Amino acid sequence: MKHIFQQGTDPKAPVLVLFHGTGGTERDLLPLAGSISPGSSVLSVRGNVLENGMPRFFRRLAEGVFDEQDLVFRTKELYGFLNQAAAEYKFDRGNLVAIGYSNGANIAASLLFHFSDALRGAILHHPMVPRRGIALPDLSGISCFIGAGRHDPICAPEETEELAGLLERAGASVSVHWEAGGHQLTGTEVAAAAAWFASVYA
Ligand code: MLT
Repeated sequence: MKHIFQQGTDPKAPVLVLFHGTGGTERDLLPLAGSISPGSSVLSVRGNVLENGMPRFFRRLAEGVFDEQDLVFRTKELYGFLNQAAAEYKFDRGNLVAIGYSNGANIAASLLFHFSDALRGAILHHPMVPRRGIALPDLSGISCFIGAGRHDPICAPEETEELAGLLERAGASVSVHWEAGGHQLTGTEVAAAAAWFASVYA
């Protein structure tokens, strides 16, 4: 997969794995990594799927309606890529914390829904429930930050609560941060994610 790897200065800090939103690239979230954990190594990935020229991490049939078969395929493909990248760049495979926005948060959530050992934690900015009706793996020991908007037209507050509940019931520890606005990622949400990261991983 197309990606950027930046070696960090602190070998003990979690490796940040970045997943952009629809139409983004692997460059988009690099500034976030600096705000969350400046000493961390960073692996930033570009989604493999194109929708009218816009990169994404999996196909959708319509706005908010996911192509489930492709979602599962792409989730496994990404899991394999993370294993490969850990071997290539010699980072600790067990110490990855994802940062995803929108479609990128959805693929990060899907990694959690399908694998107990894909991620050590995740910062999910405006995620949706990636899949319904499946048993989640044991997620004990995994910590998640969810940033959501009270007026997000793409992800309703009920869906945020549903996702938090599903992750919690699988054993994850989940912290939800609410913004007053919509789907956009604001500075206050990033600051809340940084404070959460410092409290969990310091
Ligand atoms: C998705 O398709 O993953 C969500 O609708 C978010 C987005 O618009 O990318």
